[in-house]
Amino acid sequence: MRVGIEAIAFHSVQHYIELADLAEARGIDPEKFTKGLGQVRMAVATPMEDTVTLAINAGLKALENFGIDYGDVGTLVVGTESGVDHSKPVAVYVHEALGLRSNCHTYETKHACFGAMAAVFSANDWISCGRADGSKALVIASDIARYPLGDRGEPTQGAGAVAMVISDTPNLLQFDSEINGHYTKHVMDFWRPLYSSKAFVNGHYSIECYLRALEGALADALDKATIPELYKLNQLQACVYHVPFSKMAAKAHHRHFEVDAGEKIDRESKRFEDVKKSFSEKTSPWLSLNRIVGNIYTGSLFLSLIDLLRKNTSAGLKQISMFSYGSGCAASMNIAYPTPGFERFKDKIDPEPELNARRRLRIDEYEEIMRISDSLGTGDTGEFRASEWGLTGDFLYLGNRNHIRRYSGLS
Ligand code: CAA
Repeated sequence: MRVGIEAIAFHSVQHYIELADLAEARGIDPEKFTKGLGQVRMAVATPMEDTVTLAINAGLKALENFGIDYGDVGTLVVGTESGVDHSKPVAVYVHEALGLRSNCHTYETKHACFGAMAAVFSANDWISCGRADGSKALVIASDIARYPLGDRGEPTQGAGAVAMVISDTPNLLQFDSEINGHYTKHVMDFWRPLYSSKAFVNGHYSIECYLRALEGALADALDKATIPELYKLNQLQACVYHVPFSKMAAKAHHRHFEVDAGEKIDRESKRFEDVKKSFSEKTSPWLSLNRIVGNIYTGSLFLSLIDLLRKNTSAGLKQISMFSYGSGCAASMNIAYPTPGFERFKDKIDPEPELNARRRLRIDEYEEIMRISDSLGTGDTGEFRASEWGLTGDFLYLGNRNHIRRYSGLS
């Protein structure tokens, strides 16, 4: 049975900052952020945009833009690192807002940035084993990445959601049923205790953990392949990775190349030119959205996938690899095949017009938003007004009353 992605959509928050502005405000050379990390802009969520509002809007777009019958959705999963409640899942708010059927299997998954990929694998299995009975799965990756102001992680924040419909009519991308490598190890590279709204991170160690996990997942994938040669780098037209910041994808591709070549390749060596060429052909062109959105944790890999699909045709794209990493940690490496003719959906998946319409914030405005978000506390918040935050559209977070989160468009 063919299983894969039938529909995909990204939803952005409505504000951003230029990282050059942030660098200037922090007294840092802007090239550290733009070249050293490979990031240009960073999405900033106001207090009225949260994981729920992002997920609802992305889910609506995926279903509406591709004309999918809401009654066909039999499973709804939201993968998130930044859920809004220790108990009630984001997915239930989405279920209500979209008016999905009551016998829809609905839940939330968590494993840092790996949460949505885990849900994609589950959806794939649900359909492949025949239990979906013609129904489709809506999988949404929704996150707001937060570090403290002035922290080294600050330029690697972001916000946004990617929604995907997984089905047996994969009009965009089909998953390889054989290649599915996994890796798990207990590491303290990035975590967020229940009492904290911001992540704790051991930044340089997290990069090491990511790269070790890539080696582990790749080794497992190749071990499972009947003909491993079919999955060598020279057989792949594109490699997409989890992208906390664009430079991380370059480091990931470097390690992928080394494993593939069976040798260590120093950045100062002549051979590194081959790594750079491979990166510029297979990965770098699909990082343009990540560069202007920032880290969206669970959705970062899929944002890069959207970029790949909007920039290619099926004539030029046959076989791709996808690497997902979630701190803590878990990782996967899998192979997928863009579906012939997928390019007819390009306009439906392209988020660039929406990203271009965002409003640029000054750094003092951004800092004020972060401070207000931090000061909301646990009690009643009063009612937020969209006009005060310069927001438009439906499904915004209105604030807390009696410990209940309230949303426009939801009773
Ligand atoms: N011009 C050009 N480049 C410059 C520069 C300048 N003036 N100054 C520094 N650089 C380069 C550095 O050489 C370095 O490049 P390389 O890594 O290629 O050597 C790069 O800019 C970053 O410099 P530093 O390492 O000095 O930066 P830092 O110590 O401030 O921290 C960071 C960088 C560790 C990524 C930090 O931003 C962070 O902790 N981010 C959050 C954690 C993270 O994203 N981890 C990724 C792996 S974990 C994961 O993927 C899960 C997840 O989503 C969180």
